[in-house]
Amino acid sequence: MDNKYTVGIITASDKGSKGEREDISGRRIREILPAENYEVVSCKVLPDEQEELEQEMIHLADECKCNLILTTGGTGFSMRDVTPEATLAVCDRNAPGIAEAIRAYSMTITKRAMLSRGASVIRGQSLIVNLPGSPKAVEESLTYILDSLEHGMDILL
Ligand code: MTE
Repeated sequence: MDNKYTVGIITASDKGSKGEREDISGRRIREILPAENYEVVSCKVLPDEQEELEQEMIHLADECKCNLILTTGGTGFSMRDVTPEATLAVCDRNAPGIAEAIRAYSMTITKRAMLSRGASVIRGQSLIVNLPGSPKAVEESLTYILDSLEHGMDILL
């Protein structure tokens, strides 16, 4: 059976990109996406560098034509956290409701959810969603939004 949605995953992590930290959050994303509905075409760990993150998002959207691009990490307040800036820089159309939903649901779990600056946008026919960095936050956020994401991707096709 053909997989329905193609997905590119980007982990933004200085330590991860140097091999100093295992990419558990990227792995967690792959585990949560049901294999019968999703084909993960790329899974990369990049440093928290805006230009590199932008280039990878553009590649996944414009060349790989991914239905979905999920990022994890780099959404907080550290001066190295630039994932939302990279995401907004490659945005054709803002889709703020997804990021709002992640924060609203996550706030029922931890008040620290207000510290994630994650964005959600559309580039071409790709939906790009920033998830926070920790494996726990990835799991909480992604499981909450997944069925609505699918409805959104169906409309974008
Ligand atoms: N969202 C959920 N669902 N669960 C969490 O544990 N942690 C928060 C927040 N969002 C968290 C969450 C914390 S502590 C921070 S600092 C921000 O995400 C930013 O995380 P990041 O910089 O790793 O992206």
